[in-house]
Amino acid sequence: MATGSMTADGRARVLADGTHLPTLGLGVWQVPNGAECVRAVRWALEFGYRHIDTAQAYGNEESVGQALRESGVPRDEVYITTKFMPGRRDPAAEAEQSLKRLGVDQVDLYLVHWPRGGPTRAWPGMERALELGHTRSIGVSNFGVAELQALLGTAAVAPVVNQVQFSPFEYRHALLEACEQLSICLEAYSPLGTGRHLSDPAVNAVAQRVGRTPAQVLLRWCLQHGVPAIAKSTSRERIQENQQIFDFALSQQEMAELDALDTTKGTDRALESPWW
Ligand SMILES: NC(=O)c1ccc[n+]([C@@H]2O[C@H](COP(=O)([O-])OP(=O)(O)OC[C@H]3O[C@@H](n4cnc5c(N)ncnc54)[C@H](OP(=O)(O)O)[C@@H]3O)[C@@H](O)[C@H]2O)c1
Repeated sequence: MATGSMTADGRARVLADGTHLPTLGLGVWQVPNGAECVRAVRWALEFGYRHIDTAQAYGNEESVGQALRESGVPRDEVYITTKFMPGRRDPAAEAEQSLKRLGVDQVDLYLVHWPRGGPTRAWPGMERALELGHTRSIGVSNFGVAELQALLGTAAVAPVVNQVQFSPFEYRHALLEACEQLSICLEAYSPLGTGRHLSDPAVNAVAQRVGRTPAQVLLRWCLQHGVPAIAKSTSRERIQENQQIFDFALSQQEMAELDALDTTKGTDRALESPWW
């Protein structure tokens, strides 16, 4: 792999800036700020997750921070990602507000949530956030190859992560390859298709064969492609289930069967129909 590599236990990916990104994260999109979010994050930390993915746009950074404090897990053992809301003006000033809401001195990863206003618009402010120590790493989300190349043409500091929609059904092969070549770690969001992919017959057939659940198969598929994945659940049982992906492997044949489910034709784009 061009971009650093997985740690030996498969639990982290070494990023181009030398930091470690845990390969499984809990996502909290669409989880309202409050008790439900606090509970989900606390359960995740209890079950051994060490990576939480939030965003300014999700409106639940306070609950993530509260859960982290209540969990008793030391701050430096948990990887926290938040994302700049591109409609706002200043990424550095917005990062400061995120830190206040989260109740931490620094996040681990700060992403441009989507390339609104063009791929380079927010970047100088992201670099300032890094310089000010508001975050350990900076990256992007929902960037296709053309957008990554435009950004790299002007950036002083290169992004280390590109978080995109990625699953066997959205196997953006050309984007994955390009990210590897550019030393940018592709990270999977919606690895379960926001729940839609869990009932797919081909996924269920593989799950039955390996004696695992469809969710575990979809997450393991990401892992075996070297791609860290962020799964969302607010159910205690499912949060635990999704974490049990480090003790089995999919065969080459099973990986190929899942790869073949791609509906994007191996695209180098981040999304078929952008919302910005
Ligand atoms: N950067 C971006 O633009 C962007 C966009 C989308 C998502 N994301 C990130 O990626 C995270 C994950 O993506 P996502 O929220 O779209 O969804 P996802 O993780 O693909 O799927 C979540 C859905 O699947 C259900 N589920 C989870 N585990 C399950 C299991 N083991 N068995 C059965 N059902 C299960 C959940 O329901 P329950 O909660 O009821 O279990 C929920 O409805 C987000 O939370 C967010 O952090 C980022």
